[in-house]
Amino acid sequence: MDLSEQLAAVMPASLWGTVAQTVGTTVAAASFPAPIGAVAEIERQAAAPLLAEVIGFRDDMTLLYPFSSLEGVRHGNRVRLSRTSRWLRVGPELLGRVIDAHGRAVDGKPEPALRERTSFQRTPPHPCTRPRITEPLTTGVRAIDGLLTCGKGQRMGIFAGSGVGKSVLLGMMARYTSAQVIVIALIGERGREVNEFIERDLGPEGLAKSVVVVATSNEPASIRTQAALTATAVAEYFRDQGLDVLLLVDSLTRYALAQREIGLAAGEPPTTRGFPPSVFALLPKLVERAGRSPQGSITAFYSVLVEADDPNEPICDTVRGLIDGHTWLSRSLGSRGHYPAIDVLESLSRLMPEVTTEEHRKAANAVREMLAVYRENEDLITVGAYRRGANRLIDVAIDLREEIHRFLRQSVNERSTLDDAQAGLKRLYQQMQIQLNSEPATASQPQPAVAKSAPPSAAAKTAAQPAAAKTPPQTAAAKTSPPTAPARTVPQTGLSKVLPQGAVPKTGPQAALAAAGKKLASKGTPRRT
Ligand SMILES: Nc1ncnc2c1ncn2[C@@H]1O[C@H](COP(=O)(O)OP(=O)(O)O)[C@@H](O)[C@H]1O
Ligand SMILES: [Mg+2]
Repeated sequence: MDLSEQLAAVMPASLWGTVAQTVGTTVAAASFPAPIGAVAEIERQAAAPLLAEVIGFRDDMTLLYPFSSLEGVRHGNRVRLSRTSRWLRVGPELLGRVIDAHGRAVDGKPEPALRERTSFQRTPPHPCTRPRITEPLTTGVRAIDGLLTCGKGQRMGIFAGSGVGKSVLLGMMARYTSAQVIVIALIGERGREVNEFIERDLGPEGLAKSVVVVATSNEPASIRTQAALTATAVAEYFRDQGLDVLLLVDSLTRYALAQREIGLAAGEPPTTRGFPPSVFALLPKLVERAGRSPQGSITAFYSVLVEADDPNEPICDTVRGLIDGHTWLSRSLGSRGHYPAIDVLESLSRLMPEVTTEEHRKAANAVREMLAVYRENEDLITVGAYRRGANRLIDVAIDLREEIHRFLRQSVNERSTLDDAQAGLKRLYQQMQIQLNSEPATASQPQPAVAKSAPPSAAAKTAAQPAAAKTPPQTAAAKTSPPTAPARTVPQTGLSKVLPQGAVPKTGPQAALAAAGKKLASKGTPRRT
């Protein structure tokens, strides 16, 4: 903050009021015309003054939302204006530290000596001064770097239900990213989870180049919303130093819930699912502060809790419209032990075309297609109704499935870089081409392959076992009884559209893949939006 900004924010004289009412967790002060966002001190007889933020006005009263419990506040207590503008002390000494929403150390070590100040509520960089995002950032998670590549300055959402692996994923990113500084906001977590995250997920290696801002679920809503602002302000400070910063906010939903409490306390009307309009106004204000500036970049990942795994929940919907892509974590993948549980087909990085080479995109799109082909035919394959040889693409999707999943899975302690991800994708792409060029394993007839109405054979039943479904079903599927009904085997995907319906492709499969690759590359963005 420069001096003129600070001078403009100073109130000319000291201002006093009195406590007239409390409504739930808010205090109404009479004769106290302090501005919105100012911080006031409420005097208490038996305790230290209580800090509170001005959140609005009703009738002649000024509404204050306290930063801690209202205990000891009495009718008639004096209220004093303490600060009209709120600022935070920042400096490189914050690295490796855990701080609260006010910027105070909470890790038991001495307070860091911070020489600079910054505002909590900075305006985002002007749209015209924002450089375009052109460089990729290694997140250290192979599935993201390979198939959902992010640019420096991109804002992503991680959408997941509870317990699907968000914290572990964020910890992996913090440890393995190529970003120079990581700022992590833990908002509304249970107290137990904070140390668990810092010690288990982040570890000393991750913490060394991180700043962790913590506001647990028991703290007042004003502190929980402020934690998101504090983390963003710290990230902005490091971006101003010309660094590439990774900002991880867990979770944005809890920020919205805290803002809901404040909005409703200030008398706002509840709208969708009880969220007052201010929530939907403040979310873009926060998210827009991340991004690239002429000096550096803030790449941000905001986790969004999907309540009851419902993707149409209002916060999900709003956030999806504000960010540059989303990573969807799937409970069913997690329950099968597939971690990180990223559902690639449901996820998207809007900036991937801007930050990747054509070769990378071609391979990534081909892998996506293989996953899509498998998913669209998964029911048939698992019950053994798909007969090998009926469709070359499905055969290859089945054969490479395990290989692709091996690429996507990553253990917590496994480090990965963008180059590793690209090399892995390239290998998969080459294998795909070899397989598509090779002769089919069974001599197939160009006739329908699926007996939809026929009862499953013994072989089909065997194939329905999970273990059998995972192995390339050369034997199991090939033994299935001859088909009698029309086929439903050719999926409507980019690669498959070039193949004749229900038959072994007559054209060269490599030509098909190359054509599809070209088509997808020219389309620019991944298929699902
Ligand atoms: N990459 C992973 N490898 C192995 N287990 C994982 C992984 N990610 C998550 N888990 C399991 O899922 C549990 C919940 O993960 P966590 O990240 O705490 O969930 P969330 O933050 O979404 O509530 C962990 O305790 C762990 O057992
Ligand atoms: Mg968690």
